[in-house]
Amino acid sequence: MKNIVILISGVGSNMAAILQAAEQERWAERLNARVAAVVCNKPEATGLAWAQSKGVATAVLNHKSFTSREAFDEALIGQIDQFFPSVVVLAGFMRILTPVFVAHYAGRLLNIHPSLLPAFPGLNTHQRAIDAACQFAGATVHQVTADLDHGPILAQAVVPVLADDTAEVLAKRVLSQEHLIYPRAVADFLRGLSGPLQSPTR
Ligand code: GAR
Repeated sequence: MKNIVILISGVGSNMAAILQAAEQERWAERLNARVAAVVCNKPEATGLAWAQSKGVATAVLNHKSFTSREAFDEALIGQIDQFFPSVVVLAGFMRILTPVFVAHYAGRLLNIHPSLLPAFPGLNTHQRAIDAACQFAGATVHQVTADLDHGPILAQAVVPVLADDTAEVLAKRVLSQEHLIYPRAVADFLRGLSGPLQSPTR
């Protein structure tokens, strides 16, 4: 069985979309894959309670309990690897990752970013797209590399930017597309995994 571990920091609507797709599209039977766990760095994240209500294993690792980014990421690796992941899916996980973390999951670490990368890496993507008078905005699913919000693009969705859009309105339009492309990209990625599963220590 290919284990998916999803990392969240907040609402977790992309996580919910992936869990719903896994159930509705019967990933266990068709892809030999399942969401093994949801891991969160914020104890108060609403997505955590939702995952628990769905019977998914959850773990919380509060980054504030660690004195350095390196120490947190090392503990995070230890936590994630308890679930023997074939793929680690960042779904609104609002942490900058250390090179050690990225290298540990090289080739099996996915992220969704709310812009049409390579435009607008980083934060406040929607306001920046509005300020730049972009006619289109969107979201990107990509493999994670050491370079923040770069890495091979797996999927994108495009939405129009309308004349009276606020960042909040645009964010909602983009998010509704994220919920479509992320589950699809994760399923495609799982289909592409072949050969023996990678060892849990990698
Ligand atoms: C999503 O829009 C996602 O693209 C973004 O955070 C939101 C999380 O929503 N991610 C980033 O900005 C990562 N840099 P969700 O918790 O409801 O899935």
